[in-house]
Amino acid sequence: MAGPSTGRLMPLLLLAFFLPSIVHSAAVHNVHHRMLPSRSHHRRAPSPSYTPPNITFSPVNGSSSIQDSSYHRLTGLLPTVLENAVESSFHSWEIGTLVEAILETYYPSTRAFGYDPNYLNGKVPTEALQVVVAALGSYPWSGSPESTALNTSSADLSDYLSPSSAPVTLAPQALVNGDGSLGDPCSLGAGVWTLAEFLTQQAASQSLSTGNEGADDYAWAVGNQLQYLRQQPTSSNGTMSQRENGFQLWADMGYMIPPFLASLGLATSSDDLLALGINQWLLESSALLDTTKDIFRHINDFDARLWATGNAWMLYGACRVLASIGVAGETSNLAAQVGSTVRQLSAIFPAIFAQLDSDNLVPNYMYESEPSLSIGDAAGTALIVAAYYRFAALAPRYATQTLTAQANKAFDGVIAQLGDDGWLTHVVDPMGTNGWVVNLNSGQRSPEGQSFLAHMWVARTALGV
Ligand SMILES: *[C@@H]1O[C@H](CO)[C@@H](O)[C@H](O)[C@H]1NC(C)=O
Ligand SMILES: *[C@@H]1O[C@H](CO)[C@@H](O)[C@H](O)[C@H]1NC(C)=O
Ligand SMILES: *[C@@H]1O[C@H](CO)[C@@H](O)[C@H](O)[C@H]1NC(C)=O
Ligand SMILES: *[C@@H]1O[C@H](CO)[C@@H](O)[C@H](O)[C@H]1NC(C)=O
Repeated sequence: MAGPSTGRLMPLLLLAFFLPSIVHSAAVHNVHHRMLPSRSHHRRAPSPSYTPPNITFSPVNGSSSIQDSSYHRLTGLLPTVLENAVESSFHSWEIGTLVEAILETYYPSTRAFGYDPNYLNGKVPTEALQVVVAALGSYPWSGSPESTALNTSSADLSDYLSPSSAPVTLAPQALVNGDGSLGDPCSLGAGVWTLAEFLTQQAASQSLSTGNEGADDYAWAVGNQLQYLRQQPTSSNGTMSQRENGFQLWADMGYMIPPFLASLGLATSSDDLLALGINQWLLESSALLDTTKDIFRHINDFDARLWATGNAWMLYGACRVLASIGVAGETSNLAAQVGSTVRQLSAIFPAIFAQLDSDNLVPNYMYESEPSLSIGDAAGTALIVAAYYRFAALAPRYATQTLTAQANKAFDGVIAQLGDDGWLTHVVDPMGTNGWVVNLNSGQRSPEGQSFLAHMWVARTALGV
């Protein structure tokens, strides 16, 4: 139904999807030639593992055009929800998701969905950048610009994204330990890049404690991550792998890899990276979409079931990529890929919302006859709903009243599982310890689910329905 390689939408029609975004396109070119004051040179003691920073979030303002009481309940709880997310997120993808959630919620102009090309003149996103700095607390900086020659910011940061232009030699490696995952550490890449960009500004370099490291060092680290990703073996058609040491595809990577590439493409005005981002998403989809059901499989081999959170990762990742392409003004250049992606999403949302259970949650595994595997998952549902609101803003002609009503019902279903303590319950075990299952009596919490709530809240707030 939604084959990836046919292009029947007309480019003109596609432009209409992105019209509001395209208006911004002329001004996305950030230039990074500013000199920084030299930094102090006290090297931070190496921290063996990540310690979450102590962050207090301020209240958020809900949209007055939304009446739903569950929406306003989430508005009130959101700072606590995010504080719980900070306290519980330790794995690479959890931290990457958390950083994106904080930025989207409190600093939307830094992100493609709420993009303002002048965001570096705005408030420093300290809460998110503190998490990024802490996450890279054990990064091996040996060979970095600071440790070699460039003690002050002198380079165009985008030069660090290619070995041929990098002002100091790249050292290909992941940003953080991915425990064998190639894709997961990439989820932090956009956040590290935002840190580098803000460190070119005096306000941020004074308010963040980054030790010796400055803009160039973090840009170099992102270049190292990108190069590391590019050096790994792909499948014969060029699909990147979610795992190191052997090719494997997980739906999770839809949020980890393509948005990393596309957000760097937007930040550095690189058409190649924008194209790589959407092409990788389409390749992942070509391997993982069950076209008889229009729902993604989780993993190409050992867990080929239709997992709620896997679908959520793919869907939200696609929307981030589409939004990046839109604000970069590249929608018409990439019309075939954009059209294909939009067309797939327009089939997948109805297919998934048709599966909502009596609690208005997406079953943890869909089309699954074993009841213990098909219990509703509030975490995966939250990110699917978030993706739907983003999609509705990007491609309004596909946002039918029926679908929006289903999304709002699922929103209610998720918030029914949110405690007054700001912890989401009724969630899948995100570690898959005993399989990716929802065990209702286990007290299971989900760090990523906490961040998904913020994605869901801000996506609905932006849409205003
Ligand atoms: C975190 O910050 C709050 C408010 O500043 C303070 O009350 C609390 O003791 C701090 N917690 C830790 C673990 O430092
Ligand atoms: C919420 O609204 C108040 C009053 O308009 C404003 O002062 C505050 O900055 C807003 N908070 C956020 C997080 O936008
Ligand atoms: C960086 O600057 C500091 C102080 O300005 C200096 O002591 C150090 O040698 C410099 N590092 C390199 C590798 O040049
Ligand atoms: C690309 O390769 C993957 C892995 O072999 C495969 O599953 C997928 O169908 C291929 N997609 C296309 C468009 O060729």
